Amino acid sequence: MERKGFTLWFTGLSGAGKSTLANIVNRTLRERGLLTEVLDGDVIRTNLSKGLGFSKEDRDTNIRRIGWVCEVLTRNQVVAMAAAISPYREIRDELREKIGTFVEVYCKCSLDELERRDVKGLYAKARAGEIKNFTGVDDPYEEPQSPEVMIDSEDEDIEESAAKIIRYLEQEGLIPVREGAGQAG
Ligand code: ADX
Repeated sequence: MERKGFTLWFTGLSGAGKSTLANIVNRTLRERGLLTEVLDGDVIRTNLSKGLGFSKEDRDTNIRRIGWVCEVLTRNQVVAMAAAISPYREIRDELREKIGTFVEVYCKCSLDELERRDVKGLYAKARAGEIKNFTGVDDPYEEPQSPEVMIDSEDEDIEESAAKIIRYLEQEGLIPVREGAGQAG
């Protein structure tokens, strides 16, 4: 099977599990011998996008930068995985067009549940007005209309979510089906 690069783009609110899921999928793909790279919003904002804030303009710049790296990796047979809120549909669709082989994974979780978990304590700060323009609280998040993979990170077990993504990639012929994975005959 000829190796083909593609981009797996994880989008969703802060705390919805994008990075965790990307890292689990990353582990599985590497075990299968694929070349991969994870581009995590939180990490990118400490280097490539250092200094950018959370205005629409800065978020768009951040997402286009991550998208550009994904594009370069994708055309060099790498599996690029981006995990960033990427709240604006127009920019995600722009990247889909540019990159070509683009798999959008929507990590969906209700705001109620995210505020209940509040792992980083940021939702509480946003509610208290200590952080302004926090996505989902007082800044928009535009849901994908037809993501290739939809993850319910509220009720689904994360390993099951990862398995769902892997199955999708196998079905689409983007990664080889693992031998002995129930492909009888
Ligand atoms: S994006 O909108 O540009 O895609 P990105 O994924 O890079 O966002 O960064 C999101 C992370 O930044 C969140 O998980 C959170 O930890 C932190 N953060 C700080 N301020 C905000 C804010 N106003 N809105 C959303 N996330 C914020």
